[in-house]
Amino acid sequence: MTEQKDYRYLLTAHNDHIFNTTGTRPQFFIRTYGCQMNSRDSEKMSALLMQLGYTPATHQDNANFILFNTCCVRESAEDKVFGHISRLKPVKAENPNLMIGVCGCMTQQSIIAQKIEKKLPYINLVFGTSNRHRLPEFLWRAIQTGAPVIDITEDDTLPEIKDIAVTTRDFPHKAGVNIMYGCDNFCAYCIVPYVRGRERSRPMADVLQEIETLAADGVKEVMLLGQNVNAYGKGLRDESATFPELLRNVNEINGIERIRFMTSHPKDFSESLIAAVKDLPKVCKAIHLPLQSGSTRVLADMNRMYSQDEYIALAKRLQTAMPKIALSTDIIVGYPGETEADFEATLKVVRQVGFSGAFTFMYSKRSGTPAAERTDTIPPKVVSERFDRLTAELYPILKAYNQAKIGETIDVMVEEPTKGRGADNTLVHFTSEKNLSPGNMIHVRVTEAKTFYVIGEVVK
Ligand code: SAH
Ligand code: SF4
Ligand code: F3S
Repeated sequence: MTEQKDYRYLLTAHNDHIFNTTGTRPQFFIRTYGCQMNSRDSEKMSALLMQLGYTPATHQDNANFILFNTCCVRESAEDKVFGHISRLKPVKAENPNLMIGVCGCMTQQSIIAQKIEKKLPYINLVFGTSNRHRLPEFLWRAIQTGAPVIDITEDDTLPEIKDIAVTTRDFPHKAGVNIMYGCDNFCAYCIVPYVRGRERSRPMADVLQEIETLAADGVKEVMLLGQNVNAYGKGLRDESATFPELLRNVNEINGIERIRFMTSHPKDFSESLIAAVKDLPKVCKAIHLPLQSGSTRVLADMNRMYSQDEYIALAKRLQTAMPKIALSTDIIVGYPGETEADFEATLKVVRQVGFSGAFTFMYSKRSGTPAAERTDTIPPKVVSERFDRLTAELYPILKAYNQAKIGETIDVMVEEPTKGRGADNTLVHFTSEKNLSPGNMIHVRVTEAKTFYVIGEVVK
C-alpha cells in the first residue's frame, strides 16, 4: 500500500514539473470497450489519474496519455481494439512523448499481452483487470525507464478486494456499483471467468457506504453490477449478506430513487429475490435475464444449468408476481451443434415470453473455453441466416411492447435534453424542455412507438 502511495507522490511531482515548465497539466483519455464493469473500472482509473495531476482530455488527439480499456467477449471486440491501437503507430512516431496503455479483459489473456509486446512495441504499458489499481506504478515505471511495462499478474487470491475510491463519474445522476467481481459459472462459450477471475463478493457495508457517498453526491440511480448478482454474498463472513438483503438495504438509502441490477442468472433466481423486487418500491421492475438459447440440449452443452421449461416457468413467475415487469435478454445463435430444431426452440421461447429488449449475438469462438474445442461448428452462412430470422421474430415483439404504452403517462428520468428512461428501462424521446438536467424526473405521455424507443410529450 505504501508503495502505491510513493508512486502517486512521484507521479504528482513529475506532473507538477510538466505543469511548471509547460504551463499545462498532462491530459489523459480513456477509451472504454465492453460492459458496465469496464465503464466502472474506467471511472476508477480516471479518478486515479486525476489524483496524479492529470486532467481529462475532451478528445483523444489532445491527450498525453491514451488508455484503452478493452473487452474480449467476442472476437469482433478484439479486432476493433487492434484496429484502433494500430492506427496510433504514426501518431506515436510523430509524438514520441505520447504514452499509450492497453488494459482490461483482452490484455488479461497472456497470449494477447505477448502479441502486443512483440508486434506493437510502441505501446508503453499493458496490464490486466486484477492489477488495474497499480496503474500509477506502471505509468511511473514506463516514464522512468522508457521501456514498455507489461504486467498481467493476477492477485485474486488476496482476501480483500482492492477497490479504488471513485471521484469521477460519466453521468452526474447515475452510477454503476460493483457488488461482486469475477465469475465462477464457466458457461462453455464464455471467456469472462478466465479474464475476470474467481467470483468474489464485496462486503455489504462497503457497498452500502459507496452508495451513500454517491447519493450524497447527487446520484439518484444505481446499477448494482456483477456477472451473477443473485449469487451475491457467497463466501462472505456475514451469512446474512444475500442479494435480496442487499436490495432491502439499498432501498433505505435517502436520495436513491431507482435501483437496477445486472446480470442475474436464471439458474438461481430465488422466490425471495422475486419478492424483494416486487415489494421494494425503488427496485425497477425490469430484469435482464439472459436466455442464451431456448433449446434444453444446447443449454446443457453451454453449461447454463436450466432447461427451456425452467426458463419459461421463471419468466411466468415473474410476470405473475408483477404483471408489468419488463424482461430483457441475451441470445446467442449458432452455438456449435445447434440444429434447426434447437434454433426453433429459441424462437419458441422468444414468442412465448414477450421480451421488452434483447441483445442478439452470433456465437464467437474464444480460445481457451471448452466450446472452442468443438468441431461441430455451424457454417457462417447458416448462422447469419438464423440471426436474421431471430431478429425478424424479435423486433415486432419489442415494438409491440412499446406500442402497448401509447396513451400512458410514464415517469421518466432525464438523461439528455431530449431523452430519458422509464423505470422499465424504455428509452423515451421527448421535445426539448427548458431547465431540464440529468436526473430530473418528468412525466411523459407516450404518443408513438418504435422498435427501440418511444416518443412522447412532457406533461406538466
Ligand atoms: N454474466 C452475464 C453475461 C456477460 S457477457 C450473463 O451470464 O448473462 C454478455 C453476453 O455476451 C452474454 O450474455 C452472451 O449472450 C454474450 N456472449 C458471451 N460470450 C459469447 C461468445 N463467445 N459468443 C457470442 N456471444 C457471447
Ligand atoms: Fe460468462 Fe456465464 Fe459468467 Fe455470464 S455467467 S459471465 S455468460 S460464464
Ligand atoms: Fe467484455 Fe470484460 Fe465485460 S470481456 S463484456 S469487458 S467483463
